[in-house]
Amino acid sequence: TEPAVIRNFCIIAHIDHGKSTLADRMLQITGTVPDREMRAQYLDRMDIERERGITIKSQAVRMHWDTDGTAYALNMIDTPGHVDFSYEVSRSLAACEGAILLVDAAQGIEAQTLANLYLAMEHDLEIIPVLNKIDLPAAEPERVAREITDLIGGDPSEILAVSGKTGAGVEELLDRVVERVPAPVGDADGPARAMIFDSVYDSYRGVVTYVRMVDGRLAPREKIQMMSTGAEHEALEIGVSSPEPQATQGLALGEVGYLITGVKDVRQSKVGDTVTAKRQPATEALPGYTDPKPMVFSGLYPLDGSDYPILREALDKLKLSDAALQYEPETSVALGFGFRCGFLGLLHLEIISERLRREFDLDLIATAPSVIYEVTREDGGVVTVTNPSEYPDGKIGSVREPMVRTAILVPKDYVGTIMDLCQSRRGNLLGMEYLGERVELRYAMPLGEIVFDFFDHLKSRTQGYASLDYEPMGDQEADLVKVDILLQGDKVDAFSAIVHRDSAYHYGTMMAERLRKLIPRQQFEVPIQAAIGARVIARETIRAIRKDVLAKCYGGDISRKRKLLEKQKEGKKRMKMVGRVEVPQEAFIAALSGD
Ligand code: GTP
Repeated sequence: TEPAVIRNFCIIAHIDHGKSTLADRMLQITGTVPDREMRAQYLDRMDIERERGITIKSQAVRMHWDTDGTAYALNMIDTPGHVDFSYEVSRSLAACEGAILLVDAAQGIEAQTLANLYLAMEHDLEIIPVLNKIDLPAAEPERVAREITDLIGGDPSEILAVSGKTGAGVEELLDRVVERVPAPVGDADGPARAMIFDSVYDSYRGVVTYVRMVDGRLAPREKIQMMSTGAEHEALEIGVSSPEPQATQGLALGEVGYLITGVKDVRQSKVGDTVTAKRQPATEALPGYTDPKPMVFSGLYPLDGSDYPILREALDKLKLSDAALQYEPETSVALGFGFRCGFLGLLHLEIISERLRREFDLDLIATAPSVIYEVTREDGGVVTVTNPSEYPDGKIGSVREPMVRTAILVPKDYVGTIMDLCQSRRGNLLGMEYLGERVELRYAMPLGEIVFDFFDHLKSRTQGYASLDYEPMGDQEADLVKVDILLQGDKVDAFSAIVHRDSAYHYGTMMAERLRKLIPRQQFEVPIQAAIGARVIARETIRAIRKDVLAKCYGGDISRKRKLLEKQKEGKKRMKMVGRVEVPQEAFIAALSGD
């Protein structure tokens, strides 16, 4: 296909603003998917995605569209909508010349949409603002149109209004994509350079790599090279998705499609990397490549210790399709054998643990999420800590923690309560801007404060109206301490936490109180203590009880006695010993899962 008739675009939208529905309608109107094969959310393949209505992995689909007698090839590149995947978003945007900014006409712009819009503008994409769901009685197209033009300029009356549901306005939108999105430009005969914007593991075909040709061309059966590692592969198949994969004779300048090389692990085909041809290799890779870096860590433990090998196998399998997932074995006094896992963010963590539960039928305990701390001991040694139990003992010189630039969008009325919340989480106000009826608050905040139930508080304090986006902004020194929880003098590693000195007392009393309620009385008194180093900051006591199951049955009913003893033994199986203290597994789960 000639570059002049190619249009590469993506859709930027907040979750639930109707991106998938609109994409479905486009597939139908352009005849890409015949009516009889149409099913809702055609492009969202993963079950979890469909159930939760979120798009995790981006994909590209080619559609044909005629405007004024010319046949165009429209490549729609899907972008994930969540902050955890912002690197993947940036790579999908880099594969496009234009973006549809899709806004629910009954809701208005949300923080994530704003963040992705800014990103699209940085990439110099042509922005086509569109109001969606205009069929809804609650739609306020005039108000939302003004909100949009306040942001990006232009005339509110020129903003297209569509309904993905009824199809109204969708043909006009396709025409506008052709008219406004620039055709790709590049060096058609130069050395091949293709940017990887997605890489998906398929159990039948191995890794399917989605690329955008920036220069030159690639043909099937030729030797290709990954520029970040120099690794060589053979392009076994090259093709386009429309939306089912179709092999082609290659990809040329401006085209979007897929490559199959037979590799079995997405780590060999990394998002952001440049693919070139061995016969005439490019000398310079495309800009913007970085390795995915986990930001949030949590220990995953099987509830039933004998499931450990299954958990290992499951993680090995998930890793094939998820280049950002990291893990290493770890043991905990309280929880046994498990894995320390690194994630891009909280949603990523949730998705992985959900998949482990669902696809591998595993019952898991996850420890409280933690971030990466850099701890300098007084003797100058530096330790990187992703698990409170690795926190060095003895004198600490300083601790650095990761910071994020946070953008929160709330209706005007909630500004006060959200400022209180951010303050209590050590937020530092960077700026504040009115957007019609809503306010964008920008804070610098420790990531550690956000991974700990911040989002829940944000939602509950605003009746669900707040939206949040954040991006890393380096690290910063802070007055942090490790709080340990001790049962009868024994440390329970799973409950240790790294917190700000000002919150240490709160964390200590909360955990001690929680555990007093969760742990049953024993034959002896059990003190629960919270401590910073050797200094105890909070204490609770579980009083002793004489628990004698045989006390009730006097006389010689041996079979009844035996039954009771067996029952007690069974109950013990689900107990963990911490020192001399028996703790039911449920108590660990309940204490870790929070309020
Ligand atoms: P994510 O995949 O989570 O990003 O969501 P999405 O933006 O793809 O939203 P989706 O298309 O799943 O739509 C969200 C909800 O809005 C669904 O319940 C749709 O049925 C509904 N919806 C989408 N478009 C329209 C529309 O034009 N009109 C009306 N009334 N409802 C719509």
